[in-house]
Parts: sequence; structure tokens; C-alpha cells
Amino acid sequence: MARIVAGVTTSHVPAIGAMIDQGRQQEPYWAPIFGGFEFSKRWMAELKPDVAIVIYNDHASAFDASIFPTFALGCADRYLPADEGWGRRPVPTVMGHADLACHIAQHMILDEFDLTVVNRMDVDHGLTVPLNLLFGDLKADQAWPCQVIPLPINVIQYPPPTGKRCYAMGQALRRAVESWPGNERVVVFGTGGMSHQLQGTRAGFINTPWDTRFLDNLTLDPLALTRITHAEYVREAGSEGIELVMWLAMRGALDERVREVYRFYHVPCSNTALGHIILEND
Ligand code: DHB
Ligand code: FE
Repeated sequence: MARIVAGVTTSHVPAIGAMIDQGRQQEPYWAPIFGGFEFSKRWMAELKPDVAIVIYNDHASAFDASIFPTFALGCADRYLPADEGWGRRPVPTVMGHADLACHIAQHMILDEFDLTVVNRMDVDHGLTVPLNLLFGDLKADQAWPCQVIPLPINVIQYPPPTGKRCYAMGQALRRAVESWPGNERVVVFGTGGMSHQLQGTRAGFINTPWDTRFLDNLTLDPLALTRITHAEYVREAGSEGIELVMWLAMRGALDERVREVYRFYHVPCSNTALGHIILEND
């Protein structure tokens, strides 16, 4: 059977992608941020997963205001980096795993978790920036080292799903992966967060004590995190803090008991508190 071997969470700040594309990682503002992923890149190079399932939120790049699937699964062979206003990022085309993705869709839907099958879409910074942070600064004529299955969750059109539902989605995802007869080793990403607010009178809002509790409880008490309401996310983590439900979806796909292998937290990164954690089943 295929196995989920680890989980990774990280913020997906688009300016990180711009700095990589412009070769500005060593500038004083950015060097400590990129430095926080040096261990992670070595860890990932050793892990050598066959597949990365990337749970992220699309930012009106693949989907526009005409349609917002709550949970969507990429079942395509390949995905181009989205044009988010400055042309497509010069990173490798994302190669899918259509057979495994179609199996996951069938298993999850028959398991009564009704996600939307997506056969064509572009992938935005929510997916490409975390791939860079964990796999490195790869250019368009290179290849990402593993296949990728995108799993976007809606958090930009009200109402987004609850964190509890996202955690349950991760559990269903795990059952689907483990019922696949191949031997693939799968790493699951949850991208977004942490506290940040991009607009309005509280723009730039960051809540480090709240973020720290979230980071701690991702390992220690994820069920407590599933009880965080939408109102609490907005109040305590800012209007875009809701992206943290991606982290709960990732966490649901792991064992109840996990080991925190690595943590990095840095303020500020653009308008966000950047958070990053690597978890392995204990
Ligand atoms: C920023 C962060 C995000 O998560 C995002 O999707 C867009 C912008 C920011 O801090 O600039
Ligand atoms: Fe975002």
C-alpha cells in the first residue's frame, strides 16, 4: 500500500517566490527567512518522497468568482504555474499522479467525502512557493523531484469549511492513500498562514502568542485546534489566518501521535507571521 511518511506545513507568502525568481534570497530582509528552510531542504532530500499531496488554498488563480469548490482534487497529469499578474513563475511544470489522484477521488467520494474532481487547472503561489522552500530553487527547464497532487480548499469565498471538517478530510485522505496498491511514499503539505491580515484597518496584524499555541498544539492537541471557530480565526489570527485550516487537513492525514522534527517561526515575512513545521508519525 502507499504510505504517508510525513507532514509539512509552511506559509506560502508570494513575495518569497518573487525573491527566488529575482535571485534576491541573500538580501538582509530575506536571508533569515530562507535560512529557516536549510534544514528542511536537507530533510526533504533525504526523505525522497514519491508523491507530495499539497493541500493549499487557491487565491482566485485557478478558480475565479464564478465557482469556488470547497474541497478540490487535481486529477490531471500536469499543472502549469499560474499567471498571478506578472506572468507564469519560471519554475518547473508540476507533474501530477493522475492514477493515484483518481483513486483518491473514488475512494474519498465512496467514503462519503464529496470533493470536486479538477482535470485542468493552474497552480498559484499557495503551491509553488512551498515546493521551492522544501525542494529548492528549481528553474522552468528542470523538474520537481516528485509527483504532486494538488488539493485546494476554499477560504476566499464565504463560507469556508471548518477546521474540524478539514481535519476529517485529512483522515479520509489518509484512508484513500492507504487503500492504493502501489508502494508510493507520500508527504502531505498544508500551506498558508500563520496570523496575517492583508487589508483594512488591522492590515499587518500579527499575534505571536496565538500562533505559538497553534504550533504547539499541532503536535500535542490537534483536536483542540479543530474547535477554533471562524470568528476566532478572524479575531486572533487576522482575516487571512483562516488559511491555517490547511494545516489541520494535513494533520488529519497523520497518526494521532506525531513527532515535531523541525519548527521555524519568523516575523515579519511580508504581512505575515511565517510558520513552518515538519511532523513525522511517532
Ligand atoms: C501575503 C500572504 C499570503 O498568504 C498571500 O496569499 C498573499 C500575500 C503577504 O503577506 O503578502
Ligand atoms: Fe495565502
